[in-house]
Amino acid sequence: MTNDRFLKLLVKKYLKKKGLPEQPALTFSDVVIQDNFSSIRSRSDILNLKTRLAADIWLNIPIVSANMDTVTDSKMAIALARLGGLGFIHQFFSLENRVKEVAKVKRADNAVIEHPEKIKRSATLDKAKKIMEKCGFSSILVVDENNKLAGILTSRDYRFKNNGRIRVESIMTPMSLITAGPDITRQEAEALMEKHKIEKLPLINENGEVVGLITAKDMLKEKSYPNAVRDSKGRLRVGVTIRLNADYIHEAEELIASGADVLLLDTARANSKLALDATVEIKKKFPKIALVVGNIDTPEAAMMLIKAGADCLKVGIGPGSVCKTREVAGVGIPQLSAIACCAAIAKKKNIPLIADGGIKNGADLSKALVAGANAVMIGGLFAGTDESPGEFFRDANQQWKIYRGSASLEHQFDRIEFGSLDTMRTPEGVPRRIPYTGSVKNAIEELLDGLRSSMSYVGAHNLNEFWEKGKFIWQTVSGYEEGKPRI
Ligand code: XMP
Repeated sequence: MTNDRFLKLLVKKYLKKKGLPEQPALTFSDVVIQDNFSSIRSRSDILNLKTRLAADIWLNIPIVSANMDTVTDSKMAIALARLGGLGFIHQFFSLENRVKEVAKVKRADNAVIEHPEKIKRSATLDKAKKIMEKCGFSSILVVDENNKLAGILTSRDYRFKNNGRIRVESIMTPMSLITAGPDITRQEAEALMEKHKIEKLPLINENGEVVGLITAKDMLKEKSYPNAVRDSKGRLRVGVTIRLNADYIHEAEELIASGADVLLLDTARANSKLALDATVEIKKKFPKIALVVGNIDTPEAAMMLIKAGADCLKVGIGPGSVCKTREVAGVGIPQLSAIACCAAIAKKKNIPLIADGGIKNGADLSKALVAGANAVMIGGLFAGTDESPGEFFRDANQQWKIYRGSASLEHQFDRIEFGSLDTMRTPEGVPRRIPYTGSVKNAIEELLDGLRSSMSYVGAHNLNEFWEKGKFIWQTVSGYEEGKPRI
C-alpha cells in the first residue's frame, strides 16, 4: 500500500471511530460529545488529569499558555507550571531576554539552588548589597580566597550598618553553619533544617567548596503547589519558543543551557521545507530535548514532522480569537476536524498533540481532547489575568488588558522595530481589549470544571479513558441554539 493510501485509511478509520465526517470539516460548535452510562458519582471524584506533552514530559492538567507577547512571559509560565500545566515563553523577546525569562522560572521555587551567588569575605558591604539587589535576595553565602564556605551574610547582619565600605567578614555570621553534602535528599534536608531551625542549608563538597544551597522558603513553596509540574531537580518546568527565521541552533543551545524543558519551533506554516529542515537539524543536534513543532492542520504535515523527529505537534491554522488568517488567506481547516485528522496520525505514532486556538470554554477543551489532543493552548482566555504581561487600564468602569494577534498590525510595528520582521504585511490578526478576569487560576478552574463534568457524562476516570470512550454527534445550528440559555 502506498504511503498516501495508508495515511488516508488511517484518517478515515479514526474519523469513523470519533463519529466525524471526512467532509465537510467541522469545528467545536458543530458537535456535541455523546454521553455514556457512567459509574462516576460526582465530577469531584475525577482527580487524575495527567497528560503527556512531549517525550517524557508530563503535565498534571491538559493546558498550556500561548507563546504570545500579551500572554506568556516568566510570570505566566510560573503560574501555569505551579497549577500543573506549562507556559511557552514567547519569541518576541530577544534571545538574551528569553534566556533570562527561562532562568526566572527555573529559579522560582527551586528548593536546590545549584549555583548560589557567593561573595568573597574580603569584599565590601556595598558590593554584597549590589549583588543581592540585582538577584533579589536578602542574604548571600560568603567564601574565603580558596572558595571554601566562610559564613553567610544575612539582613540581620547588615540592616543597621551605614558604612558600605566595611568588609563582609567583619559583620557576617561566621562558619559555624549547619551544612550538608550535595547528595542530601529533600526529606533529609527538611529534617535537618527543622532540627536546627535554620532557613538556609549550604551544600558543600569534600573540599569544603559550596556546590548548592537549599532554602526553607523555596521548600515551603514546593509544598504549597502539590499539582506543580517539576523537573527531576524539583524546579518548575518551562517551555520556550525558538525562531525559525533566526539561528535556531544557537537559540536552542542557549535556551537548553538556561534550563528550558521544552522547545517550541513556532511558525504560521510548519507544513514547509523550512520547518522540516529545522526540525531535522535541531533533533540531530539535540536529540534529548523535547521539541514541539507547529502549526499544521493536515495529516500529511503531521506525518512529515513526526518522521522529521518532532516530539509533539501543534495544530491550528486560524481558529484563534484574534486570528484573521482564514479571512485574509482563505486557508485553515476548522479546528475540530484539523485536530482529529492530525490525531489519527499522532495517536498511531504515539506522539502528543497540542490543539492551539479557539478554546472558549470547558466544552471546547473537552471536545479538543476527545478529538485527540493531549493538551490545549490558550491565549485569549488568559490574556486578561493578573499573570499576563502588560498593564491594566480603566475604561467604562472596568479594568482591561490588551490582547493582540502575533500577526496584527500593532504587533508588526513592534517586530519591525525589534528587527524580527523586514516589512509590513496585510495583518492576519487583530488587537482586542480583554476584561480583567483576576488570577489565571480562576480561568483554569473554570475550564477544568467543565472538563470534569464532561468526563463524568462520558464515564471516564482519566484523560486516556476520555479519549477512548469519547465520540461526537453532529448538531444543526438549531440544535446549537437550543443548548444556549434563553430568557
Ligand atoms: P485563542 O483563541 O486562545 O488563540 O486566543 C490563541 C492562538 O492564536 C494564534 N494566533 C494567531 N493566529 N493570526 C493568526 O492567524 C495572529 O495574528 C495570531 N496570533 C496568535 C496562536 O496560535 C495562538 O496560540
